[in-house]
Amino acid sequence: ENIRSIYEAIGGEDAVHRLVDAFYIRVAKHPDLIPIFPEDLTEVARKQKQFLTQFFGGPPLFQAEHGHPMMRRRHLPFPITPTRRDAWLSCMEEALEEAEIEEPFRSVIFERLTLTANHMMNTPEEKG
Ligand code: HEM
Repeated sequence: ENIRSIYEAIGGEDAVHRLVDAFYIRVAKHPDLIPIFPEDLTEVARKQKQFLTQFFGGPPLFQAEHGHPMMRRRHLPFPITPTRRDAWLSCMEEALEEAEIEEPFRSVIFERLTLTANHMMNTPEEKG
């Protein structure tokens, strides 16, 4: 029996880089996300490549450089409302398509990221 990680199944480093690049092109243009992201997304994209590599079962690149992920805690400085959660997920859904991540991995990834994004919300709508 050959059990591969999602990371390997989708095509490893190349696929993660395509996905993250397609994602931040959309974040940079999304009116609900622009206010909380830095203008230069180079560093956040680099960290997201590290994080998603380990999230998909590849080498633990994020942890190696930044320690325990603690993603909710790392997001507390930024007001993440339900609207911003939806915006983040819609950018990701389109990026999964543009990066040609194949089924069933595309759906599995989107479901897992939806759970994580829900966990990242920290601000009710009216304060966003
Ligand atoms: C960092 C927003 C969900 C992974 C950030 C930053 C913002 C942000 C504003 C910081 C940018 C900066 O450095 O100034 C959001 C919003 C989300 C969301 C609005 C909607 C729910 C997620 C999810 C994940 C994730 C679901 C993982 C699957 C990361 C990573 C970083 C980051 C790895 C870099 C952390 C670091 O600096 O160490 N996010 N995020 N985010 N986000 Fe999110």
